[in-house]
Amino acid sequence: MKGITAIYPGSFDPVTNGHLDLIERGAQLFERLVVSVLQNLEKSPLFTVAERVEMLREATSQWPNVEIDVFGGLLMDYARERKAKVILRGIRAISDYEYELQMALMNRKIEPHIETVFMMPAETYSYLSSRLVREIARLGGPVTGLVPAVVEEKLRAKVAGKQ
Ligand code: PNS
Repeated sequence: MKGITAIYPGSFDPVTNGHLDLIERGAQLFERLVVSVLQNLEKSPLFTVAERVEMLREATSQWPNVEIDVFGGLLMDYARERKAKVILRGIRAISDYEYELQMALMNRKIEPHIETVFMMPAETYSYLSSRLVREIARLGGPVTGLVPAVVEEKLRAKVAGKQ
């Protein structure tokens, strides 16, 4: 879509192969895709925002129209600032739908000129989430094939450092 900037917001703690699948699809569809990490002071994440940004940059370096950024505050304020017309979100299963619908409709109420576009990742990734990846890594299980190599390495180091 010529001239359209889309924002793919999220926690990305850490980025998974499911996220990357969606980023690839988004990069093919939109002229520019800004993958933006939420700076959430309330949550206690496994990776710092700087670490998440670094892993995202490395894992998306093959797509020239993908940019990695950080945002805080209201997503719609940030989207206006970035002159984005679209918010991209992934839906894996029906269980994602209710939360995503609520967010999309609230965002539309705040800013009616920005559309939320939902895309499905490949079904291979329909069971995959950052939360499960963190749990498996913490318990010493295998994460190969679930996350990019850079994340696998950093997860191993993080878990080893915590023991
Ligand atoms: O990866 P996540 O944690 O599901 O992403 C959630 C995210 C970052 C999209 C959502 O929490 C968000 O947009 N937060 C910014 C604050 C905001 O605008 N809240 C109102 C949403 S209706």
